[in-house]
Amino acid sequence: MDLAFGQFHPGIVQTEDMNQDDEKLEEALEESFPASDPISSLSVVEPPTKKRVAVVIGSLRKGAYSRMTANALVELAPDTLSLEIVEILDLTLFNQDLEENPPAAWAEFRKQIKERDAVIFVTPEYNRGVPPSMKNAVDIGSRPPKESIWDGMPGTVISTSPGPLGGISANYALRQSLGNVNIFVMSQPNVALGGVDKLFDENGKMVNEGTRKFLTSYLETFAQWIDRVG
Ligand SMILES: Cc1cc2nc3c(=O)[nH]c(=O)nc-3n(C[C@H](O)[C@H](O)[C@H](O)COP(=O)(O)O)c2cc1C
Repeated sequence: MDLAFGQFHPGIVQTEDMNQDDEKLEEALEESFPASDPISSLSVVEPPTKKRVAVVIGSLRKGAYSRMTANALVELAPDTLSLEIVEILDLTLFNQDLEENPPAAWAEFRKQIKERDAVIFVTPEYNRGVPPSMKNAVDIGSRPPKESIWDGMPGTVISTSPGPLGGISANYALRQSLGNVNIFVMSQPNVALGGVDKLFDENGKMVNEGTRKFLTSYLETFAQWIDRVG
């Protein structure tokens, strides 16, 4: 028996989390609306599922502040988003000669991104630019051109630095490449986290309350952006 989500007849309580399993729902509906009841022929539309968001980190080192920032984003994500870090450590340097028979790590990375609805790039700044590992990941995802994993995907960029400018040059440099691969990058808020080394405790947990609040609201805005352009 099928019922449309949002079309429940009075008498069926629609809870916010909709945890009822199918069987219980089925029983409840059977009691309220015997099979002969015309309402039983309505079709079920599942409640909206969480949007899956890839988080790509531009630093390969273990103790990276950008990774700590990414972990904080995963923790602070609103109920509507599920954030998962997609690793780029194993991606060899892009080489067009390998395109016909791509390394397994390239294929796995492309698959992981394709399974997501949106992407957040968290990048440090190297010499006023994007770290090569991050640029490499963007390039690998963009090829072959007709199979680019990025085309039309909603995205956003956070740059980080212990310095006061928060890696803003890397932020804009990355945005330039993302525009070229047709990622729909959220313009505002544009986050450049300065003094990033002071935001975490000894276990790498983000403890700066102001930043936590800001990132929480930032992620809510990004969720709206995904709905608008995704
Ligand atoms: C090769 C290299 C170049 C760097 N250039 C910059 C820079 O241009 N601007 C900046 O703010 N920090 C720069 N830094 C310092 C990084 O911001 C700092 O090492 C930071 O912790 C790296 O990010 P991570 O902690 O996520 O690995 C550079 C670091 C390296 C290793």
